[in-house]
Amino acid sequence: MAHNLLQGKRGIIFGALDENSIAWKVALRAKEEGASIVLTNAPIALRMGKIKELADLCNAEIIPADATSIEDLTNLINKSVEVLGGKLDFMLHSIGMSPNIRNEKSYGDLNYDWFLKTLDISALSFHKMMQVAEKQDAMNEYGSIVGLSYIAAQRVFPHYTDMAQAKATLESIARSYGHRFGKLKKVRVNTISQSPTMTTAGQGIDGFDAFYNFADQLSPLGNASADECADYTITLFSDLTRKVTMQNLFHDGGFSYMGISEELMEMMANKK
Ligand SMILES: NC(=O)c1ccc[n+]([C@@H]2O[C@H](COP(=O)([O-])OP(=O)(O)OC[C@H]3O[C@@H](n4cnc5c(N)ncnc54)[C@H](O)[C@@H]3O)[C@@H](O)[C@H]2O)c1
Repeated sequence: MAHNLLQGKRGIIFGALDENSIAWKVALRAKEEGASIVLTNAPIALRMGKIKELADLCNAEIIPADATSIEDLTNLINKSVEVLGGKLDFMLHSIGMSPNIRNEKSYGDLNYDWFLKTLDISALSFHKMMQVAEKQDAMNEYGSIVGLSYIAAQRVFPHYTDMAQAKATLESIARSYGHRFGKLKKVRVNTISQSPTMTTAGQGIDGFDAFYNFADQLSPLGNASADECADYTITLFSDLTRKVTMQNLFHDGGFSYMGISEELMEMMANKK
């Protein structure tokens, strides 16, 4: 149900690949709540994904950008302000990729060039998009910038390998840039730490089904879906959360504060 929470607001959504992508759901919800948006993704993802379908549904322009390229980001942000007819009120960073995970490298056998790529794509790009937006003076006061994170930033999930460091860096950037952008322009910066979610990026991780089911069992409310993540993101883009900044916000059905559940205790007790 729509509440016009983003009526008259303008924003950029990074990272919608297909209908399972979290960014895809956020784009649809943002549109439903009255926002005007620009969609962006890396040129290769634009060729392989289905973003054109989403653009038609959202009446949105697509502007390609490799999120690691300052040149692409500068072009994207300048053009978005032009196309949308004014400064931006929100940006979603929904980007993650590890060449080490893609090539099934274990944590003891990481390729360091790929490690740097993981950090650049999945974390530094968050800093880059904010630095460009600041330099272009592209954000409105009380604008809101959200990045998507995962609890492997704090706890160990072995198959998540170098993405754990990327997420820790992403959350740290949210605090440091949140401080800077808050002082400069009253812009808010937060990360949402989302439950395991069935998407292309999620399912690329070895053993994903096991930790999806584990988290679902342990969380009193069960895993949060991509649609629920979109709802939560909309609240952060809205004016109802104007004093929330520099936070890593767990959106995980309670998983992050659990030790063990009755169901898992029972499973363990039956194990001889
Ligand atoms: N799926 C999960 O279980 C889960 C859980 C917590 C957090 N997250 C995070 O949510 C975010 C979105 O992932 P998703 O699960 O929707 O998967 P997804 O695969 O649909 O989205 C990842 C996106 O990153 C984009 N991308 C990769 N390299 C890029 C580059 N150089 N420039 C621009 N874009 C680039 C991809 O094209 C893709 O659209 C990621 O940050 C991911 O780590 C996912």
